[in-house]
Amino acid sequence: MEQNLSAAERAENLRQLPALLLPWYDENKRDLPWRINTDPYRVWISEIMLQQTRVEAAKEHYIRFLRELPTVQELAACPEDKLFKLWEGLGYYSRARNLQKAAKIVAETGFPHTAAELKKLPGIGDYTAGAIASIAFEQPSPAVDGNVIRVLSRLLGDSRSPETLKTAFAEELAPAYPEKRRGDFTQSLMELGATVCLPSSPLCLTCPLFALCKTRSDALPAKKQKSERRRENKTLLLFRADGKIALCRRTCGVLKGMYGFFAIGADLSAQQAEAFLHGAGISDFTLGEKRRHKHIFSHIEWNMTARVAELPCENQLAAAYERAGAQAANLPADTEISAFSSLEFFDPADIAANISLPSAFRWCLPLFQTNLHL
Ligand code: ADE
Repeated sequence: MEQNLSAAERAENLRQLPALLLPWYDENKRDLPWRINTDPYRVWISEIMLQQTRVEAAKEHYIRFLRELPTVQELAACPEDKLFKLWEGLGYYSRARNLQKAAKIVAETGFPHTAAELKKLPGIGDYTAGAIASIAFEQPSPAVDGNVIRVLSRLLGDSRSPETLKTAFAEELAPAYPEKRRGDFTQSLMELGATVCLPSSPLCLTCPLFALCKTRSDALPAKKQKSERRRENKTLLLFRADGKIALCRRTCGVLKGMYGFFAIGADLSAQQAEAFLHGAGISDFTLGEKRRHKHIFSHIEWNMTARVAELPCENQLAAAYERAGAQAANLPADTEISAFSSLEFFDPADIAANISLPSAFRWCLPLFQTNLHL
């Protein structure tokens, strides 16, 4: 199926949307914490959180974030560690960094009101700009995300690729915006996509657009070709000394700047892990059971194995002999290895309360409990 409605028919269908969707939205909208009012700061935070996170997961984070940082000025002045702790579990930490960069600008200049101006701020793209401009400032600015593409591609029976549709819908939807309740109109489209026009098995019989819809099924939109994820092996050594746990700041690649565990970019056997530690000048250690875990980022997959490495004292790691360890374990010279010098030892309670440990590493924490006998 190609797009087979004329431009005039498409425009006419879209023009009917506000009258059908707004009454439905009033009756059916979910009670979500970012819908309490349309303060631009609150709308902005919610839209950034919702970019790659499910509504249910975002809700609690949103409430906590607003409680801790209720104004853009407080966000601008927030220490990075506290910000990351508030962001923990949402992933894509660059969103939090950009949020603060933008907050520093907005704290000085105020929020711009149009999508074009909002897009100049760090971390705000077409979708977020449209959402903020319409919801907070009542501008006729569409916010076209995956949900909206799904709703409109089915409505119009348009089987072009989602990338093509995104541009087309952003242009075609703007003239269909009503005179009033523009923010509600934006949210009604999102809401229909999230609760009725579902990716599979949509609830067509309860849909307010049923009479108008050209598809009435999940046959559209055309499925995106999935790009292959790069697979990376990692061996994590979970150093512990005197009851304290070693973390290091990642210096490159994904999660750069975040805390993590000591990582070697290869899948090491127990003998290799031992050889690594001996080669690095660490003679007194006990290595725990191996655990495996896979973590999927958008374009990369980490296949990890982790072991607790119990040390008698912190300063066993003082010298930087990681490369000698790699050589002793027969690893290629370019294997990525964390630096001993970047390790910091923390009380477990401090990690729980104050350190933002990405979920790619958080799964390791229970291993310290199961290896208590060591
Ligand atoms: N997804 C993105 N923005 C949203 C919003 N404002 N309400 C519900 N779901 C959303």
